Amino acid sequence: NGLAELFQDHFKVGAAISNRLYNAHNSDLDTIVRNNFNSVVAVNCMKSERIQPDEGVFVFKDADSFVKYGEANDMFIVGHTLVWHSQAPDWFFVDEAGNNVSREVLIDRMEKHIKTLVGRYKGRVHGWDVVNEAVVSEGDGWRRSKWYEIIGEEYVELAFQFAHEADPDAELYYNDYNLYVPARREATIKVVKRLLDKGIRIDGIGMQAHYLLDTPLEQIKTSVDAFASLGVNVLVTELDISVLPFPNENVSADVGLSIEYKEKYDPYRNGLPNEMEQKLRDKYVDLFKIYMSQKAVSRVTFWGVSDRYSWKNNFPVKNRTDYPLLWDREFKPKVAFHGICDLMKKQ
Ligand code: G3I
Repeated sequence: NGLAELFQDHFKVGAAISNRLYNAHNSDLDTIVRNNFNSVVAVNCMKSERIQPDEGVFVFKDADSFVKYGEANDMFIVGHTLVWHSQAPDWFFVDEAGNNVSREVLIDRMEKHIKTLVGRYKGRVHGWDVVNEAVVSEGDGWRRSKWYEIIGEEYVELAFQFAHEADPDAELYYNDYNLYVPARREATIKVVKRLLDKGIRIDGIGMQAHYLLDTPLEQIKTSVDAFASLGVNVLVTELDISVLPFPNENVSADVGLSIEYKEKYDPYRNGLPNEMEQKLRDKYVDLFKIYMSQKAVSRVTFWGVSDRYSWKNNFPVKNRTDYPLLWDREFKPKVAFHGICDLMKKQ
């Protein structure tokens, strides 16, 4: 019984995949993904720096392969992400002299980017993370990104409008991280209400869910329910749970590789003790209980499949050994995987 099948009466279960999968079929990873997930999202290949590295130069090779992979496996395909301050090339925002472009120019570039990308996969990509990470917990809640600085708050609604015009049938989402933090929750509600009040299509709020073992569950549930009460779906879009302690001080990549650092911040580098496997399971199970308790949760997507390839091995410094996902480095299902499955099997 694959994961997605077990949870089919609750929500879709998705995986973020990369070109190591969709360009190389018939791997262990491929078998896991085909057997356990009914939705996919691309980790990197649809980001603006990959799609349009220079103005007017569109690169669709990996994105095409990704979409074909999802179609071949009859999956709900999610595009990630249209407008984000990170992994967006400088040419969007500055002219040759290095000055910010005008509002009109940036809106025009945004429109061309969104319409070209969404238009290419019209009817094939079923949902888009339209705007990613627009809020912060400080001040008025708006992240001072180039998008915000040059266009103003309106950049969000323009992005949703352009995406909707390019594919009127596609679902459109606002996506962000740490949305359990009260200030970020409120800022998100403000952004989404603006769209709803103006009658602009938005189907859901994506909660990235890059959690730690001690991320507060009550706060997560409060946000899930608050977002649902706006009348939109709630998507869990980038779920993974780090078992490593988060460094409190700023560390450079070099420090991260030192023995002292590893002893302090990479305590499980020789293998995860069973006790920690169980802690990870318990956290996943508790989260899934929250997700199952709220009807508006319509998809739960993991940010990766095997610990071997998790981005968390390299965050916030390179070469740590993290264990955030459901399959281990040898592609075997972990205690956490069985814990989540048991939730449904026991019913
Ligand atoms: O592909 C190149 C490789 O050729 C090169 O040798 C290597 C050198 O560093 O870099 C490789 O690209 C890296 C890429 O991941 C593929 O591994 C980039 O440097 C690196 O920046 C990129 O990181 C991605 C990150 O977004 C960028 O912000 C992670 O894979 C990806 O998991 C992560 O995903 C984000 C979501 O999009 C948004 N939410 C947060 C999440 C985690 O940061």
